[in-house]
Amino acid sequence: MLTHQKIRQKFLEFFEQRGHKIVSSSSLLPNDQSVLFTTAGMQQFKPYYTGQADAKKDFDFLNTVSIQKSMRTSDIDEVGDETHLTFFEMLGNFSFGGYWKKEAIQYSHDFITKEMGLRIGHVSVFEGLPSAGVPVDEESEQIWKSLDSNIVVKKANIHDNFWGPTGNEGPCGPTTEIYLDGVEVWNIVFNEFYYSGSREELLSGKSSKKLDKLKTLGIDTGMGLERLTMVLQHKNNIFETDLFEPLTQSIPNHFDLRTKRIIADHSRTIVFLSSEGIIPSNKEQGYVLRRLMRRIMALNISEDIIDSVINTYAEQYPELQAKRREIHNIYSEELVKFNKTLRGGLNELKRLEKVDAVGAFRLYESFGLPYELIKDVAKDRAKDLAREAFDQEFKKHQEKSRAGAEKKFGGHGLLLDTGELRAGNEEELKKATRLHTATHLLHASLRKVLGEEVKQAGSDITAERLRFDFNFSHKLTSEELQKIEDMANETVENDYKITKEEMSYEDAIKSGALAFFKLKYPPTVNVYSVGDFSKELCGGPHVSHTAEVGHIRITKEEAVSAGVRRIRAVVE
Ligand code: SER
Repeated sequence: MLTHQKIRQKFLEFFEQRGHKIVSSSSLLPNDQSVLFTTAGMQQFKPYYTGQADAKKDFDFLNTVSIQKSMRTSDIDEVGDETHLTFFEMLGNFSFGGYWKKEAIQYSHDFITKEMGLRIGHVSVFEGLPSAGVPVDEESEQIWKSLDSNIVVKKANIHDNFWGPTGNEGPCGPTTEIYLDGVEVWNIVFNEFYYSGSREELLSGKSSKKLDKLKTLGIDTGMGLERLTMVLQHKNNIFETDLFEPLTQSIPNHFDLRTKRIIADHSRTIVFLSSEGIIPSNKEQGYVLRRLMRRIMALNISEDIIDSVINTYAEQYPELQAKRREIHNIYSEELVKFNKTLRGGLNELKRLEKVDAVGAFRLYESFGLPYELIKDVAKDRAKDLAREAFDQEFKKHQEKSRAGAEKKFGGHGLLLDTGELRAGNEEELKKATRLHTATHLLHASLRKVLGEEVKQAGSDITAERLRFDFNFSHKLTSEELQKIEDMANETVENDYKITKEEMSYEDAIKSGALAFFKLKYPPTVNVYSVGDFSKELCGGPHVSHTAEVGHIRITKEEAVSAGVRRIRAVVE
């Protein structure tokens, strides 16, 4: 079995032998003040892409290779599944004018197939963004095909296959991504452009800022060490690899799997952040550290876990060893503060005669009391409290905050507000429910008429109308709209029964149910099916037979931003 140490070494050597200078990881705290953490290996090299700094002068090479400590808080709600982490390490090779697509793709292909002996499942390339003058990346597709005609090449849009910029501005460009066993493992970025705004501005399509061509073409690649190790060591998830084994061994067995993974993830991040001198606080990086620490402190985990992390990484990161005492001090000081808050929460808990999901979630929200602790302390008073119900509250809360202030319902009380669907009384609820089912029918019809690349980007339902946003590159023709409307109405007329099944999130995705990936789902989800016409993860509510929907009429089709279209429809 290839150990993680061996994988690291092989990666660095492979690129060193091909003209790359080995560069150490930069700090998790970037120089660029506009981002909280280092999220990618390219960040320390930004000035070399733009010509502000000279790689030849600084490294004696135009190409570099590194293993970068990285941190992404955007994935925090996914932690606990098979592949997501807050802290992770990224293997990357970089070029600042040294080579371009052909070599970059060939290197990654050879490393994966020849050096690691793995088979590439499929790759993706950029489908282009005509409105910004970026064509479909046919060149990469051809290079992949020339290396192996069996490789499946898929096209993906700006959300998945266009990197950057990081922070307020910077280099960016199309990507090609390598998937092993269905998991995205390696991202190869062709830094061809400079955008003088943020990624959000670029994606909104509303900014007048332009994509400028960079003088020097740059390569930036990033491969998740944990994910590659998982595939190489034939494990089902990253937590079973030797990057985590000693750590997971030290976690008490009575926790459920998801909790164990959260503990493993958070304790790693805590050690690395503390080793960089970050102190828990109420703002910025300190706040992130505080949240992570308190999440595992509440589970009463022994501080020894810190040593397990340090021991696993001491060889690669000797500074952890040197800072062992300092890291422990940061942890113990926060523990004292946390215990004070916790006592407040436990006092509240004592006062409750019965603990239901709403009450439990409130204690979690205000005092950081996690589900496990509440169950444990409240014993009989929480005997009816189930994990699913608690997760459901969590989900409701997330949807509400996502819905944001602008979605507050004018004036009167709300009977139902799921974030997607709102109704003030029974009558409105009936109408909104019909519109909700109509939304699923239109979503399925859009995909059948326009193609599977249609992806839900947003949905909003009131008693009057539905509004549905989706990723798609061009304006729909009136023929297309007619076809979509007809198809949805045909399904209404066929009067399909709508069925609801409860299953785990993983099983739901495996069964082919559509999910709106921006939403955070709890571990157990509902899947609504309309015959074999449509299948979606959804919180409901829906009508029981499609005939109840009535006639669907699309009233408008428009652009929301580059690559995102919006339709509005009513039911009659
Ligand atoms: N910057 C890209 C990423 O983080 C490739 O390294 O995925």
